[in-house]
Amino acid sequence: MLGRRIYYSCCKQQFDNASFQYHKVVVKILNDLIQNKDARILDIAAGTGKLGLLLRERGFTDIDGIDGSKSMSNLAKEKNIYKNYFHHMIGRERIPQIADATYDAASCGGSGSKGHLTFDNIQTMLRTVKPGGYLVFSCAVWNYQFEDFSRERLDLCLQDLKKLGLCSSSEKTTSMHREKEPADIFILQRGDARLL
Ligand SMILES: C[S@@+](CC[C@H](N)C(=O)[O-])C[C@H]1O[C@@H](n2cnc3c(N)ncnc32)[C@H](O)[C@@H]1O
Repeated sequence: MLGRRIYYSCCKQQFDNASFQYHKVVVKILNDLIQNKDARILDIAAGTGKLGLLLRERGFTDIDGIDGSKSMSNLAKEKNIYKNYFHHMIGRERIPQIADATYDAASCGGSGSKGHLTFDNIQTMLRTVKPGGYLVFSCAVWNYQFEDFSRERLDLCLQDLKKLGLCSSSEKTTSMHREKEPADIFILQRGDARLL
């Protein structure tokens, strides 16, 4: 965990300039799904705000961000994209600053990877979304070599979410993380269950 914080302190500027594509894909999907430009959106692992900026450019007005790295969030704050930006390392427990079912949709772009957010964190992310809302989560396919991202882990996670009533539908589409690096994009719709 400490290693990741140091990594993102060192590379934050370069990260903003890198040739990633996932954020464009995630934002296009959200834009197609959400008609109301005043919908409340949470950008999870928002980093320097690259994905949030695209949401703003599409006309979304009410975006919050959350990230575990202070240095990344400082760059995002300079851009004035987010109404609130929470500093928190997301795990398997509910996020203390965010009540269940707060947002119409949540994005998690480029952060589905080993040592970041895995399939095991999907429940925590999906809880932030209102029933009927969406979580759009991207994951570069090279992650599938790791146990946290195995097909079995995904199936178990989706089964649990559906059993709990937290997920009413799940879809996967394949796109790019960056050039020559394919990514899967998961689109999960929040079910009616409310958890304590
Ligand atoms: C590859 S960057 C993606 C940033 C952003 N989504 C974008 O599109 O520009 C990964 C970000 O995820 C954050 N991160 C990784 N694991 C996290 C966790 N468990 N909770 C919160 N943030 C996390 C890192 O601090 C970093 O800012």
